[in-house]
Amino acid sequence: MKHAPARRRSALVLTAAALLLAGCGNVQSALLPAGVEAQKVADLFFVMAIGAFIIWIIVIAIAIYATLIHPGKHDARKARGLIIGGGVILPVIVLTSLLVYGLALMPELRKPPARDGLRIAVSGEQWWWRVRYLLPGGDEVELANEIRLPAGKRVEFELSSPDVVHSFWIPALAGKVDMTPGRTTTLSLTPTETGIFRGACAEFCGASHALMNFSVVVMKPGEFEEWLQGQAEPAATPREPLAMRGRNAFLFNGCGACHAIRGTSAIGKVGPDLTHVGSRLGIAAGTLATEPADFRDWMTRPKAIKPEVHMPAFGMLSDDELHAIAAYLDGLK
Ligand code: CUA
Repeated sequence: MKHAPARRRSALVLTAAALLLAGCGNVQSALLPAGVEAQKVADLFFVMAIGAFIIWIIVIAIAIYATLIHPGKHDARKARGLIIGGGVILPVIVLTSLLVYGLALMPELRKPPARDGLRIAVSGEQWWWRVRYLLPGGDEVELANEIRLPAGKRVEFELSSPDVVHSFWIPALAGKVDMTPGRTTTLSLTPTETGIFRGACAEFCGASHALMNFSVVVMKPGEFEEWLQGQAEPAATPREPLAMRGRNAFLFNGCGACHAIRGTSAIGKVGPDLTHVGSRLGIAAGTLATEPADFRDWMTRPKAIKPEVHMPAFGMLSDDELHAIAAYLDGLK
């Protein structure tokens, strides 16, 4: 009888631990770093966590000694020594060392890349990410909700926001930095492993704050260059009749007032650039995939998917038009 609750408790602890570990896939984990800066942040975390655990053990041991092992009156001089040693001298030493260690990380974390290094401007908007690659010649390549990076190369992000405060965070690659209206903040990082990671907004920014994510794809440098060249190209004109009808319906129904598709008359700047939207891993800031059904879903009921989103619903479009536009967008690779 006595063992049943204990067994249940250990089962609970095991389940909690398993869930915790399952949540730590390295797609979005600051504890499984895939970049130079994230590694430093993780090291700092482990130093603090292990240090805190050791100090906790010592405090508990002293408490057990004072209450259970030796509960009587204690020698006044020894007690004063413990208070001054453990309450003043030890914290000063521990906190000063932590401060020195933490400050020493700063210059490395804030170091910008070489002058001709990769620069990407990211703007946090309600509730998506405008991503602009700032090319050396002054040209720009714009996309949305997806950032691709070359492994082993340092990159600098210029972060801003046109509406409210957002916070740019790719846990596996670096610490987080606020995106503040009216000013530009910077974040430098060097990814070390190829793979797909997840970034998120880390500052409450309104109804759909929790639905403001983005994909980060770290590629081999050669593949990255090829990808960036492809993104700089205008959209291909579709050949299939369905997608061709979709292109016409997209332009005729005024989608181009908010969205740009380079190479067409759609030059809107309010919403995401859709030039190569079919090649992305997701739309609507990580809430939907990029299959035709997702595009249709998003066009007909955006506010049900993402509360208070600025994109209006296009429920007035016929089924044929919706299918055609979805086929067109899906084909924009
Ligand atoms: Cu943007 Cu939270």
